[in-house]
Amino acid sequence: MNKIIIANWKMNPNTLAKAIRLAKASDEKGVVIAPPFVFLETVGKIIRRASLAAQDVFYEESGAFTGGVSPKMLKGLGVEYVIIGHSERRNHFGETDETINKKVKAALSHGLKVILCVGEQWAVRKKGIQAAKNFVANQLRKDLQSVTKNYKLKAKSLIIAYEPVWAIGTGRNDKPENSSEMAEFIKRQVTRNKRQDMRVLYGGSVNSRNAKLFLEMPNIDGLLVGGASLDPREFSKIIRLIYK
Ligand code: PGA
Repeated sequence: MNKIIIANWKMNPNTLAKAIRLAKASDEKGVVIAPPFVFLETVGKIIRRASLAAQDVFYEESGAFTGGVSPKMLKGLGVEYVIIGHSERRNHFGETDETINKKVKAALSHGLKVILCVGEQWAVRKKGIQAAKNFVANQLRKDLQSVTKNYKLKAKSLIIAYEPVWAIGTGRNDKPENSSEMAEFIKRQVTRNKRQDMRVLYGGSVNSRNAKLFLEMPNIDGLLVGGASLDPREFSKIIRLIYK
């Protein structure tokens, strides 16, 4: 499967004009742009080659859920992917594995492709890679409860982003070999050794200097890029790597 690069803009940029400029600069094949909700519609109309992602979704169809956005609303805007369970959602918005599981199911049943984020804190990782694997296995088990069994998953409908929490926005990225080992572990966990194809991405302080090292790893099928996706020059250097 081709490698993909996801641009997670998080709560940036702060004006529509800047979002338009950024979207135009990032509009390449293999790129998935995840702008804030308020810019989705405009960005969706601008892009020709890139795909559109939302940064979150609520699991109900409609009703009294102030602030919520439903899968159907996203579909209606041409959104193809949705990021679920990002560590910032878990930490700042109090999302639990149970909520994340509901969101994953709702998104899949509406035909959205899910980018599920998992990853351990430093307190776990400092005990070693096995401790991190146990932590991630536990997240996967809860977040994907009754998903792999009950949903006819196509290889492309579920992507896992391995993002060690201590590497996000810190400038301290994981060693590519370790992330690749984790990516292989994640594939085995999710597909239960059925050798089904699926993508696992790495995220956490990716920039134009280290991106190549991750993309060269056999088990890493792309990148989830935060900070560096907001800088068009930096981001275009990263994008170019997937055309090699
Ligand atoms: P970062 O963020 O690239 O700024 O570390 C990655 C992410 O949170 O998806």
